[in-house]
Amino acid sequence: MNTMPELDAFWMPFTPNRQFKAAPKLVVAAEGVVYRTADGREVLDGTSGLWCVGAGHRHPRIVEAMKRQIDTLDFASNFQVGHPGAFALAERLSIVAPPGLDRVFLTNSGSEACDTALKIALAYWRARGEGHRNLFVGRERAFHGVGFGGISVGGMTNNRRAFGTALLRSDHLRSTWDATTQAFVRGQPPSGAEMADELETRIIPLHDASAIAAVIVEPVAGSTGVLVPPRGYLRRLREICDRHGLLLVFDEVITGFGRLGAMFAAQAFDVVPDMIVFAKTVTNGAAPLGGVLVRREIHDTLMQGPAHLSELMHGYTCSGHPLASAAALAMLDVIEAESLCERAAALAPHFENAVHALADAPGVVSIRNIGLAAGVELAPMPGRPGARGAAAQATAFDHGVLTRAPGDTLVLAPPFVSTPQQVDCMVEALRAAISDTAHLLETTP
Ligand SMILES: Cc1ncc(COP(=O)(O)O)c(C=O)c1O
Repeated sequence: MNTMPELDAFWMPFTPNRQFKAAPKLVVAAEGVVYRTADGREVLDGTSGLWCVGAGHRHPRIVEAMKRQIDTLDFASNFQVGHPGAFALAERLSIVAPPGLDRVFLTNSGSEACDTALKIALAYWRARGEGHRNLFVGRERAFHGVGFGGISVGGMTNNRRAFGTALLRSDHLRSTWDATTQAFVRGQPPSGAEMADELETRIIPLHDASAIAAVIVEPVAGSTGVLVPPRGYLRRLREICDRHGLLLVFDEVITGFGRLGAMFAAQAFDVVPDMIVFAKTVTNGAAPLGGVLVRREIHDTLMQGPAHLSELMHGYTCSGHPLASAAALAMLDVIEAESLCERAAALAPHFENAVHALADAPGVVSIRNIGLAAGVELAPMPGRPGARGAAAQATAFDHGVLTRAPGDTLVLAPPFVSTPQQVDCMVEALRAAISDTAHLLETTP
């Protein structure tokens, strides 16, 4: 049976469209940790889809919950009316969140959730009579999605270049990545907490704390190749924010719901922000859903004004969609019933050893890891940064593993239910792809 569709009309997101359509890699089914391709091959899902599928594909409990939901209530808006699923989900999220973050705004994606958090910060300060706070502090090499808010605080040049004329007022901390001291560190780099001081020594003196609406960071930067925060860095950032009365937002779109062996990175690192942005694994990728966990005082500050008006002029048609809410509630059940956070934590040491064994593969210049996330950085093709990473990603797929390559870094973020043997196969496929692309290092620019 020919399963190859016409490819021209779909403008693929974040994809070199012409290259893909010349050599399409199409998956048509999935189960557990394995994708099936259009040409009948099995490929291990080394990236949990896109950091989503922690519980493995088509988890029966999530599939059942979604089927039940679609048979009962397919759609109801949460504007003025509501449906029980969204309320139940928010309540469940408030219980698993760090203490104090017990109010929840629901969106459809991580990008929307990032922009929502920034809007909540602006609205909060305005409600407190401090509407002049309109500067956001992000960090270099951060990814906070593709909304104008997210790219303003984000720090990926390629994502900002085309839209730089239309961004919010922002400044950026330097990235926590330091090639000279962190190249092959396992887990959190032992030194470097002082990198957080830049907020206090440069950014606050330059703009004044009274101009800053919020500081937003990913606890672990994922989309730029897994950059792990030095020990003590996030706590130091929290302390500086507290000293100067700044809101701190953690973007946990990739770290939320088990990736670091805890429900949130906030709990893994024992640092509580004022808001947590989440998406992806919350539904195991089975339906689009994101959101923001908000400290109650921020929420309550906004519960004012005429009673017939929305307190926050913000929301999406599908905020808290019934199907997505059902998927997320089922995923929270699965995380609990199958101890997925504990499983991720238990698999992490094996994963760490397996990825660090790639240190001797040709042209590997750095390996970073934490929980079930790792970045293996390759020496670039001379004069063509990113080309070797792209080639290795494509070759890895042929060797049977889905990986991602931001620049020349190959990322692995396996489902929490992967077996040690599956992790080994993923790593061996990466090794083959790294070897296959080593000849690119010999080319002249
Ligand atoms: C940290 C982070 N924030 C935000 C986003 C954007 O999420 P979405 O693609 O669901 O809009 C991503 C996506 O990878 C992410 O990694």
